[in-house]
Amino acid sequence: MRHSNSGYQATLFKMPASEYVVNVASVPQRSPFRYPGGKTWLVPRVRQWLTSLDDRPTVLIEPFAGGGIVGLTAAFEELAEHVVLVELDKQVAAVWQTLLKGDADWLAERILSFDLTYDNVRSTLAQDDGGVRERAFRAILKNRTFHGGIMAPGANLIKYGENGKGLKSRWYAETLANRIIAIGKIRNRFTFICGDGIEVMREYARRKQAVFFIDPPYTAGGTKGKRAGTRLYAHHELDHERLFETAAKVAGDVLLTYDDTPDVRDLAARHSFEVECVAMKNTHHAKMMELLIGRSLSWLK
Ligand SMILES: C[S@@+](CC[C@H](N)C(=O)[O-])C[C@H]1O[C@@H](n2cnc3c(N)ncnc32)[C@H](O)[C@@H]1O
Repeated sequence: MRHSNSGYQATLFKMPASEYVVNVASVPQRSPFRYPGGKTWLVPRVRQWLTSLDDRPTVLIEPFAGGGIVGLTAAFEELAEHVVLVELDKQVAAVWQTLLKGDADWLAERILSFDLTYDNVRSTLAQDDGGVRERAFRAILKNRTFHGGIMAPGANLIKYGENGKGLKSRWYAETLANRIIAIGKIRNRFTFICGDGIEVMREYARRKQAVFFIDPPYTAGGTKGKRAGTRLYAHHELDHERLFETAAKVAGDVLLTYDDTPDVRDLAARHSFEVECVAMKNTHHAKMMELLIGRSLSWLK
């Protein structure tokens, strides 16, 4: 029997997947990050996927969590009983650890009381101590004040920002604090693991009701690789063959999202996955295509 919450798909998706472009403004922005390669635009599709499953998943695993918008949406909207977020990057991990181990209010207060000046940002980011909570604060600060939200080595502080608003152009302290407090309130719906996403997938491989939303770093050309000179993520190398092998073997359902390249299509075909192009808008509002990959994508039609 289909589980509840399935109203989402009724009217939204009458157009072919490649033509319908999601209006990102219609998706609640719940992540404290503005994440490069973030999948807010894909949220309506993920709802459609999760509600098409026969039963509500007992657990949704996001093995490459980043800003975690899919896991957050699933938890807030109760599209899965539990959410497991996995992330290798220690800066990003510190934020999830802080939020989900009971220190969300502390982080919110730290953000609200910070005086955002260039000097304060530079001196705070130059520190390398204070434990997980302070590391989490520095991660949020960097994410909000660096170009494109990029926290990887080589990224730089914003000079002019949006409309010449400089540093403050992406620092909405109250909005951020509210998002963080809201996540803290439902923290028992999450497990966070700082580790390798593929290893965690293997741990859940036998569970039929465990489903996987997989958005790995992929830089072999295509949109995510085009940012000249700057890597989007500190951890950008991955054995994609191993990831596909693992995804093909897990008992539960999987949804992968990748740049549309011949290599990716080849990987998908070799592991007997279906592929479908979906439309998205990039940050400059240009329509772009992304490849969704799964065992059956009939729910997209
Ligand atoms: C494309 S981003 C995910 C974006 C995310 N879907 C969002 O909406 O914000 C890929 C993420 O995988 C992380 N990562 C890279 N290698 C990893 C690994 N082996 N295990 C877990 N996470 C990894 C990167 O640090 C990056 O945050």
